Amino acid sequence: MNIHTYEKVWLAASMVLIVGFIATITYGAVGPGVSMISDDGGSIDPSEINDDERFEETGVTHVGGNEYEVAVLAQAWSYSPDEIEVPAGSEVTFYVTSPDVTHSFSVVGTNVNTMVVPGQVSEMTVEFDEPGEYGILCNEYCGEYHHTMEGTLSVVP
Ligand code: CUA
Repeated sequence: MNIHTYEKVWLAASMVLIVGFIATITYGAVGPGVSMISDDGGSIDPSEINDDERFEETGVTHVGGNEYEVAVLAQAWSYSPDEIEVPAGSEVTFYVTSPDVTHSFSVVGTNVNTMVVPGQVSEMTVEFDEPGEYGILCNEYCGEYHHTMEGTLSVVP
């Protein structure tokens, strides 16, 4: 049987599309991609947050040199702490988790922007070179007072 030339072209084109789709999905699944959630901090049982040494006491801890760790609880509808202060020139690692529903922890004007999922600890490290003040916002709809969930991060001279 003789296959018409156009039919061959269409067959080839559809094969290219199928391979392309599979490649796209594969790349999305195993490639570097963009992660919505930083869960580098590992998992945590929401009922045992207070037993985790990082969240026993939320807030800023100086770990040496210019390095700081900040433990934050994102909960309906506030951050604990809601005011964070670190010195300029510091390297800050945030650990953020939620005891209730999914929130986000977004430091406006920086690349700190992660979902905060109950059961996961989001971890990210950022350097703050210049003094300044940043807003902290929840970008993930979390209920009636979602819009009131905010805080400030001050980088002081
Ligand atoms: Cu928390 Cu929106």
